[in-house]
Amino acid sequence: MKKIMTVFGTRPEAIKMSPLVKELESRDNIETIVCVTGQHKEMLHQVLSVFDIAPDYDLEIMKHNQDLFDVTMAILDRIKPILVAEQPDVVLVHGDTSTTFATALACFYLRIPVGHVEAGLRTHNIYSPYPEEFNRQAVGLVSAFNFAPTEQAKANLLKEGKDEASIFVTGNTAIDALATTVNGDYRHEVLDWVDDARLITITAHRRENLGEPMRHMFKAIRRVVDEYPDIKVVYPIHMNPKIRELADEFFGDSDQMKIIPPLEVVEFHNLLANSYLILTDSGGIQEEAPSLGKPVLVMRDTTERPEGIAAGTLKLVGTEETTIYENFKLLLDDDATYQTMSVAANPYGDGTASRQIVDILLEKLS
Ligand code: UD1
Ligand code: UDP
Repeated sequence: MKKIMTVFGTRPEAIKMSPLVKELESRDNIETIVCVTGQHKEMLHQVLSVFDIAPDYDLEIMKHNQDLFDVTMAILDRIKPILVAEQPDVVLVHGDTSTTFATALACFYLRIPVGHVEAGLRTHNIYSPYPEEFNRQAVGLVSAFNFAPTEQAKANLLKEGKDEASIFVTGNTAIDALATTVNGDYRHEVLDWVDDARLITITAHRRENLGEPMRHMFKAIRRVVDEYPDIKVVYPIHMNPKIRELADEFFGDSDQMKIIPPLEVVEFHNLLANSYLILTDSGGIQEEAPSLGKPVLVMRDTTERPEGIAAGTLKLVGTEETTIYENFKLLLDDDATYQTMSVAANPYGDGTASRQIVDILLEKLS
C-alpha cells in the first residue's frame, strides 16, 4: 500500500487536482490523503463540493488581502506537523502558486519526495507572472517526478538539466476536468440576460496586473462596450477586494455589463462554451478555451502556454489600453480574423492525464 498525499489551496489547483484525487481514490492499493491549505476559502470550497472531495486536512490559512509572506509562512508552519505525522511516500503539488512552492519547500526540508503536476511551464521571466514563474522553477529544483503536460514543457525541463527519467508527458489534468463539465443544453439566468447579444466573458486577477495595468485593461474594455450595443459582458469576478474596487469604478454603471460572483466550475466552463470571445489574464483559461474553440485575448505580457498561441486560439495582447482596445474591436468587426481564431484544437492531452500519473507513480514507487 502506497501513501500518496495531494496538497492544493487555490481554485485552479483544485480544479486540476480533483480529477487526480478521484483517480487516486479509485485505486485499492493507494492510501489517498488530501490536504488543502485554504489559500483560497470560498473559491476552493466551491470546487471541492462540485467534485465531492472531503479533505483530510485543511490548514485554513486565508486572510483577506494576504501577501506572499503571509501565505508562505502560514503554510510552512502548519504543514510541518502533518507531513511529519503522515510520512507520505510522495506528495503531489500542482503548478505554480504559493501553496505549491511552500509545500514543496516543506517536503524538501523533510526529505519527502515531491511529484509536480503541470511541470515545465516557463516564461523565463522571473517577474512575469509574479511570483508564479519563480514558484515553478523552484519546485522544479526539488521535484522527483515531473508530470509535464506537453512535449514543449518537457523540453523546458531538459534544458534546465532535469533528469529525463523523472519527466513524464501526460497531458494536462485540466482536460480531464473539462470532459466532465461541458453540457450542450446548459441554461443559466445570465445567458437569458445575454439573450441574442454577443457574449464576452472576462476574468482578471494576476498580482502583477493589480493597479495601473488593470486600469488600462478595464478602460479598454469599457471603451469597446460603449461603442458596441450588440455585445454583453459577463465578468465573474475574483474575490480579491482590490479587483472589486477597480471593476466597480470602470464597469459599475454599464447596463451591458454584469459583474457576478465567481461561478462554480461547471457553470464557468459552460459560460465559456457559450461565449463569443474571452478576455483574460488567467492561466487555466488559456488551456480550456482552445479545446472549446473560443478565441482568447490574453491580457498579459508573457505566457507560459505557447501551445495555445500556436494552435491559433490565443493572442497575447499585453496590458496597454490601445492594444487591447484595437484587438478587441478587430475580433468584433472582422469575421475572417474571428474565424481563424475559433479553431477547436486541444494541444493539452486526451483527458487521461490523471490515470497516466497514477499508473506511473504506482510503477515507480513499487
Ligand atoms: C493565487 C495564486 C495565483 C493563481 C490565483 C488563482 C499565488 C501567489 N497566487 O492568486 O497563482 O493564479 O490564486 O485564482 O499563489 N479571496 C477570497 N476568497 C477566496 C479567494 C481569494 O476572499 O476564495 C481574496 C482574499 O482577500 C485573498 C485575496 O483574494 O487575500 C488574494 O488571494 P491570494 O491567494 O493571495 O492571491 P490570488 O491573487 O488569488
Ligand atoms: N473558473 C471558475 N469560475 C470562475 C472563473 C474561473 O471555475 O468564475 C475556473 C476556470 O475555468 C479555470 C480556473 O478557474 O479552470 C482558472 O482559475 P484562475 O483564473 O483563478 O487562476 P489561473 O488559472 O490564472 O492560475
